[in-house]
Amino acid sequence: MKILVTGGAGFIGGNFIHYMLKEHDDHDILCVDKLTYAGNMETLAPVMDDPRFKFIKADIADRDSIFKIFESEKPHIVVNFAAESHVDRSIEDPGIFLKTNILGTQVMMDACRQYGIMRYHQVSTDEVYGDLPLDRPDLFFTENTPIHASSPYSASKASADLLVQAYYRTFDLPVTISRCSNNYGPYHFPEKLIPLMIANALNDKPLPVYGKGENVRDWLYVEDHCRAIDLIIHKGRVGEVYNIGGHNEMANIDIVKMICKELGKPESLITYVTDRKGHDMRYAIDPTKIHNELGWLPETKFADGIKKTIQWYLDNRAWWENIINGEYQYYYKRMYEGR
Ligand code: NAD
Ligand code: TYD
Repeated sequence: MKILVTGGAGFIGGNFIHYMLKEHDDHDILCVDKLTYAGNMETLAPVMDDPRFKFIKADIADRDSIFKIFESEKPHIVVNFAAESHVDRSIEDPGIFLKTNILGTQVMMDACRQYGIMRYHQVSTDEVYGDLPLDRPDLFFTENTPIHASSPYSASKASADLLVQAYYRTFDLPVTISRCSNNYGPYHFPEKLIPLMIANALNDKPLPVYGKGENVRDWLYVEDHCRAIDLIIHKGRVGEVYNIGGHNEMANIDIVKMICKELGKPESLITYVTDRKGHDMRYAIDPTKIHNELGWLPETKFADGIKKTIQWYLDNRAWWENIINGEYQYYYKRMYEGR
């Protein structure tokens, strides 16, 4: 069984590759990644010598390269993680989000149609549902919640989902889609909330909280997400959408305070900055379907997961220091200076 994983040099794709090689002796993994600013070969260093693993640098939106890869590699399953993934960058420059997230998805599915596939899995996000109000804790996203995207990022992911469903209906492509809540864990790029706060706190730098810090996200440890995708590609029903979430809703400010506490840093580092444009208030997933159909439940509690994550950043300083000492500095200045 050969699984083609796109975007495997990124956060969740990288964790998925580590997970699959650990869990399945009989699976070969081919990683295809463009190595954008978010792709990092250091994330794949632990598996580079594994004979079951192979890496090819390519852009999923480059039809010729992707078709050549399918012709020579003949994957059985495709899991498409590759994406531009950061909301703030999508507000700054939406174009590349449309190219990679929508057109890249089309190219991947066209290759699947041309060369044949057992399963095409689209890694989507709960952000396609828009947001929920803070004063309605009884409301959750189900698979039947209408698509209602807020940012150029979520609009591009929602567009891709519609295209995946169209390829199922029109061409009988054997697809599945998963929509997961916010992930955290090792190898998370330090432009996102949790790793950014850990890195800044360790460097005694201000911790920039958008608006009042009251926005709520439903945090899931990345390995729980990987296990859910493993179940869906092997046992999920073709044509179906599965929501994935940990019933772990937390306000941003509480996360940042928890990180300060774990690292023994003062809360006086917290700095409230201008809010994100169009900032979604609350995400909350109802994971009943994946639980009932596939028996999935999250295994890592947030209190344990955040400790493991912080420990990983302490043990792997070189991984994130290499990032924040590079091109990231210009991004950080653009995004935060004088904000
Ligand atoms: P990431 O930004 O850490 O990694 C993205 C990876 O995709 C990088 O390795 C990058 O080099 C690669 N990539 C980007 N453009 C490419 C292209 N055109 N061709 C080939 N490779 C390309 O992202 P992530 O956080 O790991 O997210 C992975 C997927 O999961 C995305 O589809 C995202 O929408 C989805 N998702 C993320 C979260 C989250 O909390 N991070 C939650 C739900 C869903
Ligand atoms: P992020 O990690 O970018 O994920 P997403 O926007 O896709 O949910 O942000 C998580 C939350 O943290 C979101 O409400 C925005 C907020 N945030 C900050 O307050 N400060 C920051 O520096 C960042 C990066 C995010």
